[in-house]
Amino acid sequence: EYVMVDGRTLDRSAAKVDIEDRGYQFGDGVYEVIRVYNGKMFTGMEHLKRLKESAEKIQMKLPYSPEELLARMEELILKNEVDTGTVYMQFTRGISPRNHVFPGENVATTFVAYTRKVPRPVEPMEKGVCAILDEDIRWLRCDIKSLNLLGNLLSKQRAAEANCFEAILHRGETVTEGSHSNISIVKDGVIITHQADNHILNGITRQKMLEICRNESIPFEERAFSLDELSSADEVFSSGTTVEVMPVVEVAGKPVGNGRPGSVTRQLQALFKAEIE
Ligand code: PDD
Repeated sequence: EYVMVDGRTLDRSAAKVDIEDRGYQFGDGVYEVIRVYNGKMFTGMEHLKRLKESAEKIQMKLPYSPEELLARMEELILKNEVDTGTVYMQFTRGISPRNHVFPGENVATTFVAYTRKVPRPVEPMEKGVCAILDEDIRWLRCDIKSLNLLGNLLSKQRAAEANCFEAILHRGETVTEGSHSNISIVKDGVIITHQADNHILNGITRQKMLEICRNESIPFEERAFSLDELSSADEVFSSGTTVEVMPVVEVAGKPVGNGRPGSVTRQLQALFKAEIE
């Protein structure tokens, strides 16, 4: 299996991380996860543009353009013969003696990318999944897809211990997103999902979904919604690169609607499937 390190393709066993890499020591870097369907990246350019934006938001300059990265990732997918899977890529602020202050411009970023063969989550998408609720204790720049994921991990771990798929995060009474996906509710046929601001990652899947809604005249609102609205919603679903459009049929031990995937969620799943085929 091949991986890419700083633009060179090598065998996974030959790839190494320096003990003073800033990603390793500080989580000082940004990342993306891109879906591969039928051997091709889905919304690859959108992900790579967001990667560039994330880097700019932490004052990091990437040594490649989104176009160059797209071409390199295409190479890696071909070499590893990935049909259905993911591409993971990350840039850190490079290797330098440990110091909270950024190293100078002369220190190169560290770039790592690899692929994985991952099937689509067909069964949970059919049946729906459960979620727990957890206070959103993360920082106030969740719009940056940074390597600092401890807040997300703590919530996802709690969900896993409760045999649930996702933790729905809330800041006080306001629902923000999931530990590793965006969260939407449906009330009286209208999709409601948190506006794209510093409290959430503006998911590429979320954006794709809203584009589908515009094209199909499915009504939606981008606004914060409360825990009360969540618990009285007709439908709840999670969206993300790995989870696609995932019905949430139970929240904090209580069924959502009739406890089965709802009609709007199913419609979105079908429309999304048509996009990726
Ligand atoms: N997670 N919100 C959070 C906190 C996420 O980590 C993700 C994605 C999303 C959905 O974004 P997108 O539709 O662009 O994948 C929302 C990735 C897949 C991960 O960390 O594995």
